[in-house]
Amino acid sequence: MTSTLPSTDQLSAVFGAGQRDGEAVSARLLDSAAQLSYDPTTEVDWDEPLDPALHGLNPEWSTLYGTELWDEMTDEQRVTLTRHEVASIMSTGIWFEMILQQMLLREHYAGDTTRKDFQFALTEIADECRHSIMFARACEKLGATGYAPKRSGIELGRFFKSFASAERAFAAALVAEEVLDVMQRDWMRGEDVLPMIRTTSRIHVVEESRHMTYARQEVRESLVGASRARVRSSALLIAIVTQVVVTNLVHRDVYTAAGLDADRAVREARANKHHHAMMRTSSRHLMAFLGECGFLTGPAVAIYRRLHMI
Ligand SMILES: [Fe+2]
Ligand SMILES: [Fe+2]
Repeated sequence: MTSTLPSTDQLSAVFGAGQRDGEAVSARLLDSAAQLSYDPTTEVDWDEPLDPALHGLNPEWSTLYGTELWDEMTDEQRVTLTRHEVASIMSTGIWFEMILQQMLLREHYAGDTTRKDFQFALTEIADECRHSIMFARACEKLGATGYAPKRSGIELGRFFKSFASAERAFAAALVAEEVLDVMQRDWMRGEDVLPMIRTTSRIHVVEESRHMTYARQEVRESLVGASRARVRSSALLIAIVTQVVVTNLVHRDVYTAAGLDADRAVREARANKHHHAMMRTSSRHLMAFLGECGFLTGPAVAIYRRLHMI
């Protein structure tokens, strides 16, 4: 595995153009944001009653879909579970958006205000702020609040958001955004999904596609001239952040909320081959980019395997 890693020269050859193109990419993203941005306070119908038959997310995205326990559940329990699962994922989204906003502010603190990447960073912070309010309102409306990450995740996040920079900050942001993006592309089209979730997902998918382009660009720029040792240490750190994010997506209390035995539900969810396959398929694009950057080192791949992302 290690012998296939790109050398510093190869990385510079691949990403060297990134440095020159960075301002052009940011200018394009600013144009796109000016043309297509949403205000969730008016875009989402917050007063629409929740149809009791509709799910919080496509059942296929439930952590229990395909398990014995799923077969034993009533339709009502399945609806309740998916609503709590989506609320838990959105709560983790808010947590990571707060981490990201702080990293962006630190990265551009006292920066050159005439630069397009400075201006796009502020645009992204404004987007994330609107997203977090939108997710918070959606969780409140679902009656599913309080799904914070585990204590260890909160403390690791506190450390990471205070010190991570360059490719470490932006690749971590990209991982969280890509994982959410793939799910939300299905949620926004799901005919058995609540309209509120379909709309919030559509807004998020559109605006996050700019953030992901920006994050990839920032990672490329950061890697120009980076030593192998630095790429290796970044690779491990990014994989650890991915583990913290992915393992905190669905809180164990969602199973209790659906009237299930949480211990059994967690056990079956962890062994759920269907969900593992969904994770692997949806991580393909992300893994290709991480590989291109030299981030798929042996230790990192071991973590991604455990998470069923490879
Ligand atoms: Fe967001
Ligand atoms: Fe984002």
